[in-house]
Amino acid sequence: ILSQADMHALYGGVVPEIASRRHSEAIVGVVKEALEQGGKTLSQIDGIAVTYAPGLIGALLVGVNFAKGLSLSTGLPLVPVHHLRGHIASNYLSNPDLEPPFLCLVVSGGHSHIVQVEDYTKLTILGRTRDDAAGEAFDKVAKMLGLGYPGGPMIEKMAEIGDENRFVLPHPLKNSNDCNLSFSGLKTAVRKIIESYDESGNIEHVILSKKDTADICACFQKTAAECLTEKLAKAADIFRQKYPAGKHLVAAGGVAANGYLRRRLEKLAEEKGLLFAAPPLKWCTDNGAMIAWAGLERFAKGLSDGLDFKPRPRWPLDETAPKAAGAGGVKA
Ligand code: KG4
Ligand code: ZN
Repeated sequence: ILSQADMHALYGGVVPEIASRRHSEAIVGVVKEALEQGGKTLSQIDGIAVTYAPGLIGALLVGVNFAKGLSLSTGLPLVPVHHLRGHIASNYLSNPDLEPPFLCLVVSGGHSHIVQVEDYTKLTILGRTRDDAAGEAFDKVAKMLGLGYPGGPMIEKMAEIGDENRFVLPHPLKNSNDCNLSFSGLKTAVRKIIESYDESGNIEHVILSKKDTADICACFQKTAAECLTEKLAKAADIFRQKYPAGKHLVAAGGVAANGYLRRRLEKLAEEKGLLFAAPPLKWCTDNGAMIAWAGLERFAKGLSDGLDFKPRPRWPLDETAPKAAGAGGVKA
């Protein structure tokens, strides 16, 4: 693992140009170190898994081109992996008892999905966010409160001393008959509360007391967790109907690190007769390990690829990697 978080914290968020430069500077050293730590040489490796989507295109290009170069020079097969499949696979790393089918909540900085994992390589999306991702909402609310980046852990910490019942916040899409999510209205409601502390409603002028900040954090965190569990409850019924013997509800992605959310999910799982599991923190953000595992599942099924796939900033979780234009596949 090599984290750039400190660098991005200076700017209050990820700066795409810095992210891709850092990737190209670091990738050779990180791969060497991973081989060293694993006590392996390249000649003992069977295949190369790489994230092709979704994310910042600059960073994806560095990874995909490096992996293609390594594949070309070693003759090893390439396995393109969707980043969110890696997050889902992080659960196998920490939970040897877990096997499909299971229900998975994937909540990260860029995505919020409720996924029915049918087998190791097949999944069905039961619900997704219509606007902001859950992590994005945490980060934006933290920014409004001047708590810094990344916002999730700061909000969780402040929420511990806050009153979660002081402000009533909306539950967007609560009554929709599907498993989809929405966080943009919740974020706006928080903004309005903060603005109400200034006569002219200018958020830049507001200086909140620690108590007010903590109360806002607690109310936001509670409502975000409720929005997620309400839709997961619906999804659990759908899952249970299709797989009466299915055992697990799991969570993945950076937001799954949130202790309050984990407790709510645990409670929901109990109500639905399911077992809750989520990877420990170190597996929630270890992109190398999770992508390797997800790649292994595809590799075992013979799902490796040639050099003609390309990285994409956005790409559906339930499709295979796009082919480069002119290679007989999907054109951009
Ligand atoms: O999965 P991840 O590393 O990034 C993406 O793949 O997008 O997740 C990062 C996100 C950030 O939005 C961060 O604020 C959030 O996960 N996060 C948390 C917590 N720790 C990280 N959100 C809520 N509570 C936390 N403790
Ligand atoms: Zn991620």
